[in-house]
Amino acid sequence: MTKMKSQQKFEGIFWINNRLFTKNLVPDERVYGEKIIKMKQEEFREWDPRRSKPAAAIYKNLHQFPVWKGMKILYLGAASGTTVSHFSDIIGKEGLIYAIEISERVLRDLLPHAEKRKNIVPLLMDARLPENYRWVEEVDLVYADVAIKDQSEILVRNSKMFLKPNSFAMIAIKARSIDVTQRPREVYKQQRKILENFFHVIDFVTLEPYERDHGFFVLKRK
Ligand SMILES: C[S@@+](CC[C@H](N)C(=O)[O-])C[C@H]1O[C@@H](n2cnc3c(N)ncnc32)[C@H](O)[C@@H]1O
Repeated sequence: MTKMKSQQKFEGIFWINNRLFTKNLVPDERVYGEKIIKMKQEEFREWDPRRSKPAAAIYKNLHQFPVWKGMKILYLGAASGTTVSHFSDIIGKEGLIYAIEISERVLRDLLPHAEKRKNIVPLLMDARLPENYRWVEEVDLVYADVAIKDQSEILVRNSKMFLKPNSFAMIAIKARSIDVTQRPREVYKQQRKILENFFHVIDFVTLEPYERDHGFFVLKRK
């Protein structure tokens, strides 16, 4: 058996033999068929950059990744929980994710994981209408991956309502869902302008070859 080398990348995120992993909050449970490995009484789940955009951004050498233990997160576009589950591993039992998703069909697949993990609150809601979940508490991070035309505006609207001062946001921009006729680079430039009305851009990477025509912004509230 070869010896495995592990190195911490960001809090709760590890490189093990050149692949990315998070420490599994619920031992022996997989969320999307990912690989699980055990080292020194601890269990790690592989974070697949082809299935999850923050993982792709970290493979592309992102320098700032504001997710850590105990954080409260508002997550827009939770889907069935692939990325949500890795955020849930990182924030641990003291943290909480409000997971907004408009499609009942995909949210249904998140429910059994939310039951086991306890730090995920699945909410069948439209991220365009944050008034409908105004009872959600203030958070340390808003993450947006809804892949629709006005998602930068949606991120700003949600952040105005829920993001604490001096806190963070991240957004995965799918250039083709905003304008198929424009070069992705131009789309990122325009989206940056919208985001800079409310945030400082603290990091940006494109996600090729893991995701085509996607840009990933890390933002801090002004
Ligand atoms: C690209 S997928 C998200 C993948 C997920 N973030 C992950 O990494 O595991 C986009 C999701 O946003 C959802 N969505 C689209 N419009 C939405 C809206 N207005 N409000 C909430 N969710 C929305 C879609 O139903 C879809 O599940």
